Amino acid sequence: MAGDPDCWWLDERAHAGREHFDEQHARRYDAKMDAQAAAEIGLLQDAGILDAQSSVVDIGAGSGQFTLAAAQVCRRVVAVDVSPVMLARLTEKLERGAVANVEPVGAGFLTYQHSGEPADLVYSRFALHHLPDFWKAIALCRIAAMLRPGGALRLWDVVYSFEPADAERRIEAWITQTMAADVEHGWTRPELAEHVRDEHSTFTWLLEAMIERAGLDILDAHCDASGMFARYLCQKRPAPAANTDAARA
Ligand SMILES: C[S@@+](CC[C@H](N)C(=O)[O-])C[C@H]1O[C@@H](n2cnc3c(N)ncnc32)[C@H](O)[C@@H]1O
Repeated sequence: MAGDPDCWWLDERAHAGREHFDEQHARRYDAKMDAQAAAEIGLLQDAGILDAQSSVVDIGAGSGQFTLAAAQVCRRVVAVDVSPVMLARLTEKLERGAVANVEPVGAGFLTYQHSGEPADLVYSRFALHHLPDFWKAIALCRIAAMLRPGGALRLWDVVYSFEPADAERRIEAWITQTMAADVEHGWTRPELAEHVRDEHSTFTWLLEAMIERAGLDILDAHCDASGMFARYLCQKRPAPAANTDAARA
């Protein structure tokens, strides 16, 4: 629990990104960040992962771009976020659209307690990097535990696919290119520097080992040309077959 000196669990809110608790940022979020939700829904439907019966957990749901798109095509969506400010934006949209199959939950990767049937899909976009690596590994195990065997994790994040020795050059190039290419959305150098300095993005070779160790197989991985972003489609490994000797006895 936050502030409890005996508690060794991470205070997720203290690591969740200053801007996500800023009302003004939350109001501007959708104009600044397109979560490409329609394309994501299409991809998940085409892969046979998402259909009218699916139960989805969106962790780090933010303003709910994916949550709302998913709610239109599936049965149940749980939208989890540690920021009451971001969840308030999402809740406004649910009320405005009279959306009845979304449950907003104020919790995080490390505290959300899943109830009901195991999820068919856990979705998480640009949120996991808020956790340091030890906690990412714990979070991924918790995600695997929420999924039914064969269920899917769709994960997007800020993940570095360049070599550590190349970090300075690649990060400087990304900051310069983002500021030049994305003038419209107004990313400033201090904002971009803060992401690298104060958040916990890791390397693909570390994250991928954590995903596998959590009992999830990586079906598809895509790293963008800047070397700064990766997206994964993963599947929970089926439970091992029962020991046949024991079963026969
Ligand atoms: C960059 S936003 C992404 C929002 C949304 N997924 C999207 O793609 O538009 C990151 C979100 O993750 C949330 N977040 C940060 N740390 C978290 C944690 N430990 N558990 C759950 N959500 C977290 C933030 O509050 C914020 O809403």
